[in-house]
Amino acid sequence: MKNIEQAKLAMSKSYSPYSHFAVGAAIELKDGTFIHGANIENASYGLSICAERSALVSLLGQGYKKEDIVSMTIIADDSQPVSPCGACRQFMHEILPKNTKITLANLKGETKITTPDELLPYAFVLDDK
Ligand code: THU
Repeated sequence: MKNIEQAKLAMSKSYSPYSHFAVGAAIELKDGTFIHGANIENASYGLSICAERSALVSLLGQGYKKEDIVSMTIIADDSQPVSPCGACRQFMHEILPKNTKITLANLKGETKITTPDELLPYAFVLDDK
């Protein structure tokens, strides 16, 4: 599966010397491009950024739009398919289109398919959005 391979490549870019828990996120675009994100930690622990938000910031920073997104895949060496934290769910809910296929995965080959609404029901949304 190409999306899993891409998420593993993203995971290899993790900078996680504190937690030693590498996470990768790969966002597939309509033109076939994959945007990678990985968790980037810091000695001031609270400044660390998760793989999911790293990928979404990279996507927008490179000039892509939410309309370009097809799917997002997240992977880590976890006992279950890795589950995004609350902050990342809010970020994903706002930037991913409603029907985006989200694959949560681990290195054992286990996957769970979900959507932004399923990950964050009753999400905070500003009225004019
Ligand atoms: N982390 C992510 O990057 N994504 C998740 O979905 C869960 C947690 C990171 C944050 C931190 O660098 C490390 O995993 C351990 O919590």
